[in-house]
Amino acid sequence: MSEYESDQPPGFVIAVDGPAASGKGTIATGLGAAFGLPVLDTGLLYRCVGYLVQKAGENLDDAASATAAAILLTADQLANPALRTRAAGEAASRVAVHPRVRDALLEFQRTFARQEGGAVLDGRDIGTVIAPDAAAKLFVTARAEVRAHRRWTQLKAQGERVTLKAVAADIRRRDARDGGRDAAPMTPAEDAVLLDTSEMTIEQAADAARRIVEAARARWTVSS
Ligand code: CDP
Repeated sequence: MSEYESDQPPGFVIAVDGPAASGKGTIATGLGAAFGLPVLDTGLLYRCVGYLVQKAGENLDDAASATAAAILLTADQLANPALRTRAAGEAASRVAVHPRVRDALLEFQRTFARQEGGAVLDGRDIGTVIAPDAAAKLFVTARAEVRAHRRWTQLKAQGERVTLKAVAADIRRRDARDGGRDAAPMTPAEDAVLLDTSEMTIEQAADAARRIVEAARARWTVSS
């Protein structure tokens, strides 16, 4: 029997999903601080798999190579700054299409979600696949051009030399791949609250997210 099916009430789990550069990472970190919960950026898992496959000189589209890397992945590999690069984001989205890669990363994410007290996880399929019973679900979006501008600013601050046009093309390609794949495509859970951050500063977005989660927490406290 899994812990989800046990008599123990699960902790307070917050699922934050959304496309690239929507602000979900900053929002998830803010929610973790506000509610005293640990945060897992699940994109780092896929970034790490992509990074390791490329580093080994193997093909990102080869499911067997990517699955082998996913099976061997350890948590201490996730702190590598190389995972934050533009190339690692693209590599992540290519390995993320393989169902066996997703399966290999599933238990790590579910174990994180099940820890006592709860957790915040951000990604693409948290509310739909990883933690479908999460007490609070957010799907964070923003217009593609706003996201491209944010990601471009972020990459420049990291020292990457790249044009806004190239980043906008990356975002479009990644949206299409992540939303169009067969395995756990990026899509809002039916019970997710949509948060469009296009016209918001990151502080305003974090505040709006906190209010949504406070309401969900009040409902969860009554029902559990
Ligand atoms: O930070 P950004 O939103 O650009 O990307 P990320 O969250 O680090 O995710 C990188 C890639 O990993 C995404 O484009 C997805 O293809 C994949 N991913 C996924 O498939 N499922 C997740 N739960 C998280 C990320």
